[in-house]
Amino acid sequence: MKKFKIAVLTGDGIGPEVVGEAVKILNGVAKKFKLAFSYDYQLIGAAAIHQTGEALPKATLEACKKADAVLLGAIGDPSFDNDPSAKVRPEQGLLALRKGLNLFANIRPLKAYKDLLHMSPLKEEIIKGSDILIYRELTGGIYFGEKGYKADGKVAYDHCEYSEEEIERITHQAFKAAEKRRKKLTLVDKANVLETSRLWRKVVQRIAKEYPTVQMETLFVDNAAMQLVLNPSQFDVVLTENMFGDIISDEASIIAGSLGLLPSASLGTETAMFEPVHGSYPQAAGKGIANPVATILSVAMMLQHLGLTKEAEAVEDAVEYAIHEGISTLDIAQGKSFNTEEVGDFILQYIEEDDFKGMNYFNVSVGSSTII
Ligand code: IPM
Ligand code: MG
Repeated sequence: MKKFKIAVLTGDGIGPEVVGEAVKILNGVAKKFKLAFSYDYQLIGAAAIHQTGEALPKATLEACKKADAVLLGAIGDPSFDNDPSAKVRPEQGLLALRKGLNLFANIRPLKAYKDLLHMSPLKEEIIKGSDILIYRELTGGIYFGEKGYKADGKVAYDHCEYSEEEIERITHQAFKAAEKRRKKLTLVDKANVLETSRLWRKVVQRIAKEYPTVQMETLFVDNAAMQLVLNPSQFDVVLTENMFGDIISDEASIIAGSLGLLPSASLGTETAMFEPVHGSYPQAAGKGIANPVATILSVAMMLQHLGLTKEAEAVEDAVEYAIHEGISTLDIAQGKSFNTEEVGDFILQYIEEDDFKGMNYFNVSVGSSTII
């Protein structure tokens, strides 16, 4: 029996709830496909600060390094957002973890679900057929450059720096992904203004020659932001630096209908990490309204990464089916909405049962409405 050790970092806000559902799904996959997952729960973010004073305790990083994969919920707490003088911040935990595991490539897939086309604030005919894979550089740029205040305390700065090597390693990954997809790669930069962007362009154009079947184009980030909502189906793989990737991936989530649907994988030279794109959504914490799908699809990406392809597909199919049947949380509900746990249960049952009864299972299990 194949065995995998997963470091589980539930984090803040809705993190514990959505991760709870994702772990439930992993256990279902283990049962169905005869695998074994063990879980090593560790602290990060505000939860870690409250208990240890640190946003990323050493024990957490060590546990992640020893694991086969890391599953993360979300990080962030409004009490820190409103205090610019806070010395330790929850987000520092996430950034330190990305750096500590050298997770230089953040992969964010997004597509327009057929059943949810009408949910997007964008017109159906605009988003139809959109299927984008964002490759966001995750350990460089302005996020990690030197930052601070000048001597007078009235001027702050954040430096943006990129080395050729940092650009090369993610660029190869992005081209390889494009080769397996629709063979188009768009580099998003601001080469008309920024020196770092000009370096990105130089390096990416050089590497493009090694992937002759992939068509490469460049877009300035301001134009890319517009094109993403004007004509998203023109994009296949989008490659970009850290900060631009952060911004355009939230923007692009509009295509899918909800940020609650988007998973991500972060790959590097050590253990890979899987987390939803959304944040800790503190207003929803404890209410059972958080959408667990982004985290469950992150688990599918994890399974894929562990070489468990049919297991990953089983999870993806189950999610598609739940969406198709309208078993969704409030954010994408079409009529009746279901709570976080109910959505997780439905997906779990679909994976576990060969003769799954669909919508009727739901009625039976909660004892509501008519029984077939
Ligand atoms: C993300 C988040 C993080 C980022 C925050 C929480 C530091 O927005 O993963 O997109 O900016 O990278
Ligand atoms: Mg973000």
